[in-house]
Amino acid sequence: MQNLNSLQIELMSSLSGYIIRIREILPSIYPHKPLACVNTYGCQQNVSDSERIKGLLCEMGYDITEDDTKADFVLFNTCAVRGHAEERVFGNIGRMKQLKKEKNNMLVAVCGCMAQQQIICDKVKKSYPYVDILFGTKNIHKLPEYIYKRLTGSPRIFDISDELSDIIEGLPIRRDGKLKGWLPIMYGCDNFCTYCIVPYVRGRERSRKSEDIIAEAKQMIKDGFKEIMLLGQNVNSYGKGLEEDINFSKLLRKINALEGDFRIRFMTSHPKDCTKELIDTVAECEKVEKHLHLPFQSGSDNILHRMNRRYDSKAYLELINYAKERIEGVTFTSDIIVGFPGETYDDFKETLKVVSEVEFLSLFTFIYSARHGTPAASMPDPVSREEKGKWFSELLKFQEEISKRNYNALVGQSFRVLCDSISAEGKLSGKTLSAIEIEFEGDASLLGSFVEVRIDKFTNKLEGTIISKE
Ligand code: SAH
Ligand code: SF4
Ligand code: F3S
Repeated sequence: MQNLNSLQIELMSSLSGYIIRIREILPSIYPHKPLACVNTYGCQQNVSDSERIKGLLCEMGYDITEDDTKADFVLFNTCAVRGHAEERVFGNIGRMKQLKKEKNNMLVAVCGCMAQQQIICDKVKKSYPYVDILFGTKNIHKLPEYIYKRLTGSPRIFDISDELSDIIEGLPIRRDGKLKGWLPIMYGCDNFCTYCIVPYVRGRERSRKSEDIIAEAKQMIKDGFKEIMLLGQNVNSYGKGLEEDINFSKLLRKINALEGDFRIRFMTSHPKDCTKELIDTVAECEKVEKHLHLPFQSGSDNILHRMNRRYDSKAYLELINYAKERIEGVTFTSDIIVGFPGETYDDFKETLKVVSEVEFLSLFTFIYSARHGTPAASMPDPVSREEKGKWFSELLKFQEEISKRNYNALVGQSFRVLCDSISAEGKLSGKTLSAIEIEFEGDASLLGSFVEVRIDKFTNKLEGTIISKE
């Protein structure tokens, strides 16, 4: 905590004041140790925020449960990126009405990207009277204050103020995993792709100081983490606005130089800011995964322009080809939106062309969803949902053939794999340095270790056998 500025020191002391007060009052409110359940929706950024929220809840004296029917405090950390995500959240918040009736002093809270929007805040205030607390993406550190106030008789709390632009360092963390961990390096986004809600709900881009990131990485390595995932909406623009001489490539090199046998992953890279320097860095840093998640969204230059992506398909393919030349065994994944307003079938075919040229390992594909307040939401959108659905299925089938061919070509090859999970049936799985997932026989004692696996077959997944252990 030695690097905190005066604002942060003030915030931290008010935070610990509330934590102490909650610890004092909880035993008089609940006859048992209170339980908290955190439901997380959306991207890894939210998963990472939830780990900090759980850290705070544990400091306050709660135990964490996965079962919201048992919880005294239920929180929904929400995502606003597509309409579907929002509908699911409202359905689940609705379930709390009955639970609250059955339990004394149960609190329900909503936070995250949905909550940050005024329109949603108003809707919750009006139509979900059993929600006690709603707060925005920049106010996580105020959770103890909200809980304390609500438990001591304050009216319902709605706080989506976002004037605070500082990053709050030093919040406690309760990580979900022991092997793979998230490490946010920046928050927010400045890109304003015309379809996207993220810049409105997450605010302007802010980078963490490299010393804070390195300190967190060192702690993770010390705690036994084997995979560190660096997070940001656009990691390639890391460092903008910081006083130090740093960019994302330099940060990667610093983390790569830390001692230990661990891997570094990162997401998401925006093609407009993905430099040759970064590709060279990935090629040269032995701990950095040989995999790029590089969303291209559409193969049509007209659509890319209207999405405000600021690259064209030629520039994208040049980057891919440079990465293929420079990084041995490199693999790619991407995000694609089908049915952006005004997209024609000819535009869509341009997307298929890029998909066929790059040969992605896998794709994250979405049908366009209009988001309130974004420029694309008011663009003419004549193509029916049904038609978009057909294009979407065509894309899935197209990629499936490519994946099948590429996975089959791997059969017989051997890779160094980090054993990172075990299924209910007792099968181990893990990833190669190029993020290729393989399933194999083995026992839980191997979790967290590196093994050499030979790929035997591809069914709907790659299956292999351990040929040596380290
Ligand atoms: N910052 C990342 C992605 C964040 S959102 C990037 O720029 O790549 C993750 C993905 O959701 C996006 O890449 C996009 O493919 C998809 N997405 C975002 N807004 C969407 C919308 N309105 N409709 C459908 N998909 C959307
Ligand atoms: Fe959204 Fe674009 Fe920012 Fe990604 S880069 S979060 S798609 S605005
Ligand atoms: Fe969703 Fe917010 Fe992430 S909108 S995708 S949770 S940044």
